[in-house]
Amino acid sequence: MTHKSKSWTRIKNLGKSKKDLDLAKLFKKDDTRGISFNASIADIELDFSKSKITKKALMEFEKLAKELDLQGKIFDLLQGKITNNTEKRSVGHVWLRSRNFRPKSILGVGEIDAVQSSFLDFSDKVRAGVVKGFTGESFTDVVNIGIGGSDLGPAMVYQALGHSHDGKINCHYVSNIDELEISTVLRKLNPAKTLIVVTSKTFTTSETLKNAAYAKNWLVQSLGDIATKFHFVAISANSRESQKFGIETDRIFPFWDWVGGRFSLMSSVGISIALGYGSEVFTALQKGASKVDQTLTNIDYKTNAAFIHAAINIWNLNILKLNSLAVIPYSSALSRFPAFLQQLWMESNGKSVDKQGRAVKLATCPIIFGEPGTNSQHSFFQLLHQGTDIIPVEFIIVKDNQGQDSFFHKSLIANALAQSFVLAFGKSKKELKEENTVGDLISHKEMKGNRPSMILTVPKIDATNLGELIAFYETSVIIQGLLLNINSFDQWGVELGKKTAEKMLNVLQNDDKLDFDSGTNNQIKNFRD
Ligand code: F6P
Repeated sequence: MTHKSKSWTRIKNLGKSKKDLDLAKLFKKDDTRGISFNASIADIELDFSKSKITKKALMEFEKLAKELDLQGKIFDLLQGKITNNTEKRSVGHVWLRSRNFRPKSILGVGEIDAVQSSFLDFSDKVRAGVVKGFTGESFTDVVNIGIGGSDLGPAMVYQALGHSHDGKINCHYVSNIDELEISTVLRKLNPAKTLIVVTSKTFTTSETLKNAAYAKNWLVQSLGDIATKFHFVAISANSRESQKFGIETDRIFPFWDWVGGRFSLMSSVGISIALGYGSEVFTALQKGASKVDQTLTNIDYKTNAAFIHAAINIWNLNILKLNSLAVIPYSSALSRFPAFLQQLWMESNGKSVDKQGRAVKLATCPIIFGEPGTNSQHSFFQLLHQGTDIIPVEFIIVKDNQGQDSFFHKSLIANALAQSFVLAFGKSKKELKEENTVGDLISHKEMKGNRPSMILTVPKIDATNLGELIAFYETSVIIQGLLLNINSFDQWGVELGKKTAEKMLNVLQNDDKLDFDSGTNNQIKNFRD
C-alpha cells in the first residue's frame, strides 16, 4: 500500500515544513529554479518552477516509483497483462498508435491495422464524394451520436483543429438525452447529405440509443427505410446490437474491450476526425501520441514530464491538501479540452478503494475544472487569486502564433504568464502602501501569493501536437493511478446512477408505487402527467 511505503513516509515528512515551500523564498534561494524546474516529453514542455515542491521531494517520488516498481507495472500494461482487474481486461489504447508495443497473443490486436485502414478508407471516400448518400448526393455533414468517451475526445479534437478545416464535411456532436439538442442540430441539416455515426462501445447506452433512434426516424421520414444503410455507421465493440439497429456489417467499425471509452479517441471512435479533416490528420494525431508512448519503456523519472506532472499532482492533493485543479488553455481552440480532461482524469482516478478493494488512505484525484484564458480571468480567477481555497492551476500555452497577428498571440501569452506570476508572488501590504493605496482598501487589494501553478507549452495546435498533449495527460493519469494502486480503468461509480435513472424513468412514465424518499417522491409527483 502506497501510504505505508518508506518513500511515502519521507515524502510526507518533506511536506511538513510549510515555510520551506514558500515560492518567493524558493526562487530567492535558487536563482536557477526557473530553468532547472523544467522538463519535457516529446515536444511538450512543462515548467513546474512555480509548483510548491523541491527537488528533494521529487527525488523521493523517484524512489517511490522504484519501490512500487512503476516501470514493471507499465511493462505489464504494455504487454497486455490484466491491468483493469475488476473487469478482467487488458489496457491497450497505446497499441492503436504504437505498433512496437502490440502483444500478438491478445485477441483483436492482429486486426488493428485492417480495421484502421477500413474506417480511414471509408472516411476518405466520403470526403471524396465516392461514398454517397441514398439519393446519390455527396455527404456534407456528419452527426456523431455518442456520450462520454464516445463524444468528448473526438468533439474536442474536431473543435481544436477548426482553424484548418477545409469546409468539405462539417461534423456535429450530439450527446445528451435532450431532444432540444438533437433537434437543433438536425433541423439545419439535409438528410440526403447527412451521415450519422453512432458511437458506443457497448451499444447499450440509453442516451446514445435514444438519439440514434431519433436520428433514424428523422432520416426515414424524409428518405424511407432503405436509406438507413446508406446513412448510418456504427463504431462499437458490440456488432450484434449495431446490426440489430439496422446498420450494415461493412459499416460497423469495431474496437475492442481493451480500449477504455475515455482512452478511445485514437480508435475507430475518432472516425469523425478523419471524416472532418482527412485520414492523414487522424494518423498525425496517432503519430503525436506515439512520440509520448515511446518514453514508456524507459521512464527517466528525473526528466520525464508526465512522471513529474503525476508526482506534483499527487503532492498537491496529499501533502499540500489542495483538492481542486484548474486547467486553463490560453487558446480558444482548446475550449473543450478541460471537459475531455475531466472524464479522462476524474472517471479514471475518482476512486476510493485500491485495486484489492481496500479503502485508500490517500486522496486519488483532484476536482478538475477549466475554461479558456483569458475568458476565465474575467470569470472565476478572482477566486483563484484571492479565494479562501488555494487551487493549483495548469496553464496550457501555445508557442507558435500560427499565423495570428502577433498582438493577439502575445496578449494570450502575456496574460497566462501574468496570472502565474501573480498567483506565485502576489502583492504585499507593504507594496500597496508604497503605492499610496487608500488605507481601508489595502486588505482588499492584498494578494498573498504563494499559490502554485504549472505551465505546459505545446509548439502549436495541430494534429501531431494534440496527439502529444492527449497522450501526455493519459500517461500522467495512468502513472498517478499506478502509484496510488487504484484501478484507473473501471467506472463502477456511474452504474448505480444509470440504473436508478432507468427505474426513475419507469416511475415517471407509469403510475408505479412511489417508494423513494419523501423529497424524491415529491419531485416525481411534480413531473407526472
Ligand atoms: O459514463 C460511463 C461510460 O461507460 C463511459 O466510460 C463511456 O465513455 C460512456 O459511458 C459511453 O459508453 P458507450 O461508449 O458504451 O456508449
